[in-house]
Amino acid sequence: MKIRLIQLLGMVGGACLLFLPSLCAESDTHVLQQRMLEMAQDDDPRVRFQTALSLGEVDLPEKVDALAIIARRDASDPWVRSAILSSVGAEAAPFLEVLIPEVDEKTKGVEALIGQLSKLVGTKGKTGDIRRLLSALSSESTSEPIQILALEGLSEGLNLSGSVVEGGSKLSDPLAELLAHPSDKIRSAAVGIASKVLPPDSPELTELIDRQIEQLKETDGDGKDQVQAAKILRLGSFSRVSASLSELLSSQSHDALQVAALDTLSTFNDPMVGTSIVDKWSQLGPQAKVRALKILLSRTDRALELLAAIGSEAIPANILDSQKQALLLGYPDETVAEKAKTLFAALPSEEDPELYQQYIEAVSLDGDRVNGKKIYVERCAQCHIAEGEGTQLGPDWSGLKSNTRETLLTSILYPNREVDPGFTNYILETFDGDIYTGVLAFSGPNSVILRRGGGQEDTILRKNIDYLEDTKMSIMPTNLEVGLSAQDMSDLLSFIETLQ
Ligand code: HEC
Repeated sequence: MKIRLIQLLGMVGGACLLFLPSLCAESDTHVLQQRMLEMAQDDDPRVRFQTALSLGEVDLPEKVDALAIIARRDASDPWVRSAILSSVGAEAAPFLEVLIPEVDEKTKGVEALIGQLSKLVGTKGKTGDIRRLLSALSSESTSEPIQILALEGLSEGLNLSGSVVEGGSKLSDPLAELLAHPSDKIRSAAVGIASKVLPPDSPELTELIDRQIEQLKETDGDGKDQVQAAKILRLGSFSRVSASLSELLSSQSHDALQVAALDTLSTFNDPMVGTSIVDKWSQLGPQAKVRALKILLSRTDRALELLAAIGSEAIPANILDSQKQALLLGYPDETVAEKAKTLFAALPSEEDPELYQQYIEAVSLDGDRVNGKKIYVERCAQCHIAEGEGTQLGPDWSGLKSNTRETLLTSILYPNREVDPGFTNYILETFDGDIYTGVLAFSGPNSVILRRGGGQEDTILRKNIDYLEDTKMSIMPTNLEVGLSAQDMSDLLSFIETLQ
C-alpha cells in the first residue's frame, strides 16, 4: 500500500513540476518534499528502494538529499544503486556534493556510486558541475580514498568524452589545491584532470611547469619528487618541456624516472617524441625499454622511427615478438606495413619446424610440477588461470587435461596454428592517431573494449575510431619457450596435465 503511494507520489510530483506547475499549490510541493524525505528514511528496505526509483520522476532540489539518505544506508545493494543512478539523472554533481562529505570508504557500496557518478560528471564536461565536485573533494572532512576514487572517475570521464572543457580556467583554484596535495595519488589524479581542463597558456599552468622543471634539478632524496615532477610536465607545451624530458632518458636516471619521462613524452604528438626515444634507446633500463617499445608502436611516425632504427641496427630486431611483428605487418599505415615486410623478410621464419624437434624430448621426460608451476606463473599467468592464480584472457584451461603432451607442446610452441576466433589480436587507430591492440572483448554500438594480458584494457568510443582490424594472429605470443630447457618444458607440461 505504501509502495503504491510512493509510485503515485512520484508521478504527481513529476507532473506538478513538469507539466502543470501553476496548478500545484506551493503547499502541495512542500508536503511532497516532506513525504519524500520521510520515505527515504523508512524502516522497510522495499519502501526505500521504491522511493529511490520514484525520485527519478521528481524534479525538486531536495531530491538529492533524499537520494543521499538512501545511498548512505543501502548503497551495498546493487538494485538500490541502479535505482539511485537512474534517479539522480542530471543532478550527479549536486548529489555528490551532498553525499561525499557524509561518507567514507567504509560505507558499503558507496565507492561504486561515487566512481560512476564522478565519471558521468567528467563525460558531461560542464564547468559548473566539475567545480562543485572538486570543491566537495577539497573539503577537509572528505576521506582520502574517496577523494582518489572521485578524481580518478572524473579523469576517466573527461578522457572518454575527449572534448575540451569550456571555461576550464575557472577550475584553477580548486585544482591548484589538489595539485599541491601531500598524497601522490591525489596529485597524479589531479594532473590528469588539469591536463583536460586548464588552457595550456594559463598563468597557473605556466607557473606550475616552471616549478617542476626546477624540481627535476634536485637529485637528492629517493627520487619520488622527480618522478612526480616528470609526470606533471605533461601539462606543459612540448617546446617548453621536451629538453628536460629527453635529458631524463639518459642513463643517469633510474628506471622509474625514465618510465615517468617516457609516459609524459608519449602524451605529445610531436614527431620529435619518437626521435628522442630512439636516440636514447641504449641508455634505457629494462622496464623503460618495455615502455619505450609500446610508445614507439603506438603511432605511425614513431613506428617508422622504430623500423628505421632496427634497419640500421641501432635497436636489435629480436625485441619484436610475433605479436609486435604482426602489429607492424598489419599496421593501419601502408608505409609502415611495407617497411616491416621488407625488414622481416630478412629475419628467420615465423614458424620454425626445428623448434618441435628441440623440445620433443619434453614429452617423455618426467616432469616436476612444482617447477612447472613456477614457469607458469612467470610466463602464462597474465593470460590463463590455474589453481586460482592468473588473469583469464585466453580460454579456460579446465578442458586441457584430456590433451596429450604432444598437442600441448604444439599449442605452446606454435600458438598461431589454431586460433579460436575471439582470441586474435586487433589493431585499432583513433582519429587522433593513437594505436591500441588487444582482443576485442566488447564491441558495442558506442564503444569497444580491447583487452590484453594482465587484465589491462582500453575502452575506445566508436566515434573516435578511424581503423579497426583483426591481425588474425593469436594474442598468445610465440617465443614463450625462449630460455626454457626440454626439462623445464616437461615440468610445465606436467603442471598443466595435473591441474584439478
Ligand atoms: C598474452 C596472453 C597469453 C599468454 C602470455 C599465454 N597464453 Fe596461452 N593462450 C592465449 C590465448 C588467447 C589462447 C587461445 C587462442 C589460441 O589458441 O591461440 C591461448 C591458448 C593456449 C593453449 C591452447 C588451449 C586450447 O584450448 O587448446 C594452451 C595449451 C596455452 N595457451 C598454453 C599457454 C602456456 C603454457 C603459456 C605460458 C608458457 C601461455 N599459454 C601463455 C593467451 C596467452
